[in-house]
Amino acid sequence: MPKPTSRFTTYLTPAQEDELRKIANAIVAPGKGILAADESVGTMGKRLENINLPNTDENRRKYRELLFTADNVISNNVSGVILFDETFRQSTAAGVPFVKVLQDKGIIPGIKVDKGVVPLAGSLNECTTQGLDGLSERCAEYKKGGCGFAKWRCVLKISEHTPSHQAMMENANVLARYASICQQNGLVPIVEPEVLPDGDHDLETAQRVTEEVRLVYICCFRMPCSFTQTASIKKKKINRDPVSITFFLPLHLPPGITFLSGGQSEEDATINLNAINTYAGRKPWPLTFSYGRALQASVLKAWGGEDANIKAGQDELIRRAQANGAAAVGKYAGGGEGAAGGESLFVANHAY
Ligand code: 13P
Repeated sequence: MPKPTSRFTTYLTPAQEDELRKIANAIVAPGKGILAADESVGTMGKRLENINLPNTDENRRKYRELLFTADNVISNNVSGVILFDETFRQSTAAGVPFVKVLQDKGIIPGIKVDKGVVPLAGSLNECTTQGLDGLSERCAEYKKGGCGFAKWRCVLKISEHTPSHQAMMENANVLARYASICQQNGLVPIVEPEVLPDGDHDLETAQRVTEEVRLVYICCFRMPCSFTQTASIKKKKINRDPVSITFFLPLHLPPGITFLSGGQSEEDATINLNAINTYAGRKPWPLTFSYGRALQASVLKAWGGEDANIKAGQDELIRRAQANGAAAVGKYAGGGEGAAGGESLFVANHAY
C-alpha cells in the first residue's frame, strides 16, 4: 500500500494515478464528450413506450446496437459511452460484445455503478443513492471487462427548505466513497451531483444551491475524477447571456467537467454548452457534455423501432454528436437541429 503524502492524498500508486489521468484526459479531449446510454430498464421502457415498442430485452439490445454501431466518424466527438449493467453484458446480433464494438471505435466504455436513488429517511422528500455494498467487486469486474470509467448519480432537490445540509453531506460522502472505490479499481469516477431543475426557483437560488453542492468537490478533493454538473434551472429561465452562465461553472475541479443535459431540448443543450465555452472568463478545465436525452431524442424519433430506419437514427446521433463536439470548443454555429430539435426533454422528478 503506497504511503499518503498528505491528509488529502488517496492511496494510489503513481502508476494507478497515471492510468486514471490518461483515461480522464481522453474523456475530455478537445471536441469530445460522453454519450450517456445507461438508462435503467424502467427508464428505457419509457423511451421505448414513446415509439410504441414493448420494453423487452431484445428491443433494448436492438436500440443500443443502433447507437453503438453508428459510423466510426462518431468517435471524433464521442470519447466515452456510459453503459447500464445489462448493456455491458449484451452483444450485437452478430455476436460482438458491445464493449468490444466501442473499443474498436476508440471509444471508452463506461458503466453506471449505482443502484438507484432512494428516500433519505427523516428528510423532506429528499434522497440519497445506494450501491456501495459490493461496489469494489463490481468495479473489478467492469474493469476486467473493458470499462475505463464509472458514473454514480446523486440527486438534490430545490424547495423552500431543501437541499438540507443532511442531504448535501450524505450525497457528498456517498459520492466521495464511490469515487475512491472506483479509483482503487482503475475506473475514473464521474461524480454526478444532479441538482434537479424542478421547482419555481429563480436563477439566483439555482446559483446558491449549486455553489453549496460544491461540498461534494471538497470531499472528493485530490482525486483525479471527472465531474458531471447540471444546469439546475428550467429551460425558460436560462439566460444565454454569457455572464449568467458563469453561475454554472463550479470551482476546484480537475481534470474536466461534463455537463448533463438535464431536460433541456437538444438544441438548447448544444447552444448553452457553446455559450459556456465562448464566455471570455477563465476556464481551467475542459467543459463538455455527458448527454443522455439531448443526444438520443432525435435518434429515437427517427428510428421509431423500424429496421429500415436504423441508418436514419444513426445519422441523427452523429449530427448531435458533431454539434455538441463543436459546442465543447465554442464553435457551434447553429443549424444542427435534429428531428426533436427544440422539444423540451424535461421530465418531472427525473430518474435514470
Ligand atoms: P441527461 O443528459 O438525460 O440529463 O442525462 C445525462 C446523464 O445522466 C449523464 O451522466
